[in-house]
Amino acid sequence: MSPLSITRTLPADATSAALRADVAQGLSRTPKQLPPKWFYDARGSELFEEITQLPEYYPTRAEREILLTRAPGIAAATDARTLIELGSGSSDKTRHLIGALTGLHTYVPVDVSESALAAAGKALLIEHPDLTVQALVADFQRGLTLPEAPGPRLLAFLGGTVGNLLPDERAAFLRSVHDLLSPGDALLLGTDLVKDPATLVAAYDDAQGVTAEFNKNVLHVINRELGGDFDPADFDHVALWNAEREWIEMRLRARKELTVKIPGVDLVVSFAEGEEVRTEVSAKFREDGVRDELAAAGLELSKWWTDGAGRFALSLSVRP
Ligand code: SAH
Ligand code: TRP
Repeated sequence: MSPLSITRTLPADATSAALRADVAQGLSRTPKQLPPKWFYDARGSELFEEITQLPEYYPTRAEREILLTRAPGIAAATDARTLIELGSGSSDKTRHLIGALTGLHTYVPVDVSESALAAAGKALLIEHPDLTVQALVADFQRGLTLPEAPGPRLLAFLGGTVGNLLPDERAAFLRSVHDLLSPGDALLLGTDLVKDPATLVAAYDDAQGVTAEFNKNVLHVINRELGGDFDPADFDHVALWNAEREWIEMRLRARKELTVKIPGVDLVVSFAEGEEVRTEVSAKFREDGVRDELAAAGLELSKWWTDGAGRFALSLSVRP
């Protein structure tokens, strides 16, 4: 095998069938909603990388700080020979971990974005030419089948992406992570923490408007894939803090009454002026909640690390 292989676990038409189902259901219901994975075409992945550089978007820097200081501890605690990463994106922060895992043999990045996986794999192999990289284009919410690879295994889920799942989705997802692991394998989970709402809202509504563009990218995806006639300029980006659920909600709000045709799903969608589509939630966590959710999935939290400013946490847990 070449040191970089990219495997599609879903045929391309399964992806478009899933998009059609999500769009048809999500835009026919009240309130309207779309699942966040459709942000990430090639353009969406690029925009997300821009978000990670924004002054307001602290999570990437905070998580990188923790990884930089704790990577040796993670390596010592896990001895991982295989690192699996879900929603790996650019794998940029992961490089700190890969550098510290001295016995590492195989890296399995998993993402819906094939373009992100290809770029990440190429960049990694320049730094680590002997690493076997088996990239998987797959949806981590749909029953993953991982390649055979030596244990012990460490499964990383960084970037606070776990917060983009709704609570019942999260419970099912963590249970599936438990089932993917063998006894003694570990989970490294990145979770953004509850903090003052102004800091949180700014991180999802930056001054340069990059996050707004990212949010509207889902409309471009629907136009391209399903022949929709959304004019993204007809929508405003909205980010708000839901104090009861302790999550940020991203929405797109129609600036006026309008209808949109989406021939790929035989749908004409009407929007009232001010009507919103929820495009994403980003839940913020507390230590006790994370420990409880992991325990409910059969995982035992063993380490909890935050950045110096206490904004973000990485936790290490094991399948007993
Ligand atoms: N881990 C990176 C990227 C986080 S952004 C970081 O911390 O910076 C979230 C990533 O998850 C994107 O690369 C996106 O393409 C991917 N993603 C989102 N939903 C997914 C799903 N259901 N299955 C697989 N990958 C998904
Ligand atoms: N996992 C990231 C987060 O919740 C994803 C993200 C960052 C995002 N900014 C966004 C998703 C803006 C949609 C819109 O922080």
